[in-house]
Amino acid sequence: MSLTEEAKKTLIQEALQVRENAYAPYSTYQVGAALRTKKGNVYTGANVENAAYSVTMCAERAAVFSAIAAGEREFDSLVVATRNGGTPCGSCRQVLSEYGLDIQVLIVDEAGDIKQETTVRDLLPSAFRSGDLAE
Ligand code: THU
Repeated sequence: MSLTEEAKKTLIQEALQVRENAYAPYSTYQVGAALRTKKGNVYTGANVENAAYSVTMCAERAAVFSAIAAGEREFDSLVVATRNGGTPCGSCRQVLSEYGLDIQVLIVDEAGDIKQETTVRDLLPSAFRSGDLAE
């Protein structure tokens, strides 16, 4: 199901708002993510950096993990907000692909302007998924 214009605006605002809570003193690249379930619940995440750089967590995965911990499994859309409309990293694409290739992904800049409207399928062609583990 695709988002209505109204739902898009709301989800964009949530991603922009949570982006303000990003902890990114090293890169200064703040990222906010708002993930909407098929039932319309929203889970947010921001990137959390660390002096030991490699343990940094991305905003998108933070949002997914929060949703999963709340018992959610079915998602229809995700907004990712960065200063310049940067796209989700490979690890986040892989994590998202676990829950559906048709999840709609909106990438917005810090003004909330949509830079890209895509899907997990398009962001991660030939994704490795649970079916690949079958004998
Ligand atoms: N970052 C995200 O939060 N999501 C992405 O998909 C790309 C990168 C964060 C990680 C790090 O805190 C900062 O952006 C710069 O890489």
